[in-house]
Amino acid sequence: MGGLRPVADVGIVGGGQLARMTLQAAVSLGVSTRVLAGNEGAPTTGVFAEVVRGAPTIERLEAFSRTCAVTTFEHEQVDPRDVEVLEGLGRAVRPGSATLRLATDKAAQRRAFAEAGLPVPAFAVARSVVDVVRFGGEHGWPLVAKAPRGGFDGRGVWFVDRAEDAVPALALAGGRLLLEPALLIEAEVAVVLARRPSGHITTYPVLATVQEAGICRVVQAPSGLPAALEAQAIGIAHSVAELTGSVGILAVELFVVGGRLIVNEIAARPHNSAHLTIDAAVTSQFENHLRAVLDLPLGATDLRAPAAAMANVLATDATTDPRAALPRALALGDVHVHLYGKAPRPGRKIGHVAVLGDDPHDAAARATAAADLLGAPGSSAEPSREAVPAWA
Ligand SMILES: Nc1ncnc2c1ncn2[C@@H]1O[C@H](COP(=O)(O)OP(=O)(O)OP(=O)(O)O)[C@@H](O)[C@H]1O
Ligand SMILES: [Mg+2]
Repeated sequence: MGGLRPVADVGIVGGGQLARMTLQAAVSLGVSTRVLAGNEGAPTTGVFAEVVRGAPTIERLEAFSRTCAVTTFEHEQVDPRDVEVLEGLGRAVRPGSATLRLATDKAAQRRAFAEAGLPVPAFAVARSVVDVVRFGGEHGWPLVAKAPRGGFDGRGVWFVDRAEDAVPALALAGGRLLLEPALLIEAEVAVVLARRPSGHITTYPVLATVQEAGICRVVQAPSGLPAALEAQAIGIAHSVAELTGSVGILAVELFVVGGRLIVNEIAARPHNSAHLTIDAAVTSQFENHLRAVLDLPLGATDLRAPAAAMANVLATDATTDPRAALPRALALGDVHVHLYGKAPRPGRKIGHVAVLGDDPHDAAARATAAADLLGAPGSSAEPSREAVPAWA
């Protein structure tokens, strides 16, 4: 098989909404695609690409990457050591194992950023309750404990009030926790950029994100941060891009604490904070991700309007039926609705709404109104179902 031409230009590991929206961009560019989807595969089932089902084991990754000119990722549930094996076989994997080693492990990431002199919160890596008690003694309670690997949407982030609370957290995190103080966060922003293998970077406007219970609700641009802080945030993100050697989209999440920026975490893939770039930027993050991993010229990142906002559609419960609510949401006018084809569960992201305008707060209010309609409980008691994975 080694001498055969790849069957797809780009292979995406992961079959969730990020892959789905990347596929939309691939259609426009005429880029052929394959997807390796695990349990999350509903958003890409039956849309645009050949979908292979199965968890990303080394055997599957080896077979999959053999058929793709470039292999990329839409999630962090991959072992960087497996990616290193693929690189050893000469496969083009973007981002590569060095980037993924940091992007898939919050503790390794934090250590590397601290060593590079980037601003990070006080932190420690705990392997026992004794370690947690020591950190709480030094920095105060509550503290925040994070699973270094596998967390998303606030899953894997715990506020720990007492030493006993660290016991279940340690167990859930596989015996290792990243600890940091509970910070008084004044604002959260994300800097999203695209980087080519040559190191050329293009950067989106700084995005302000609003989290509720650890999950992103709303994103706005302009961010509202003072220009000097925005410039500093972009500078930090560029340093992170160089340090990690990322290729494709890189998102750097930052907190403003005491008027100063600190780096929270990164994602080396398209990021929820930049979903509004589909409708509100000259080139979407998904198209720029494809361009970057294919080493094509990057597209302009400017906004098409003075302001833009995005609200996530969070399902209220299993009866939520966003398609039934679509007429009412669209009747609000000038709302860009994106539904992901996911089964509704309480608090689950099942879509987003983007709105362009003159004022980011007005745009956010309109996007939220539409998102709330789409995420409301449905009239049917019968939950809609995802396709059952063929390999399950
Ligand atoms: N040390 C902290 N103090 C206070 N709040 C925090 C702290 N760390 C995280 N948070 C809050 O929890 C949210 C989620 O944390 P984090 O980004 O580390 O987790 P995640 O689950 O990987 O997030 P994502 O949704 O980006 O995948 C942050 O955006 C922030 O609102
Ligand atoms: Mg985060």
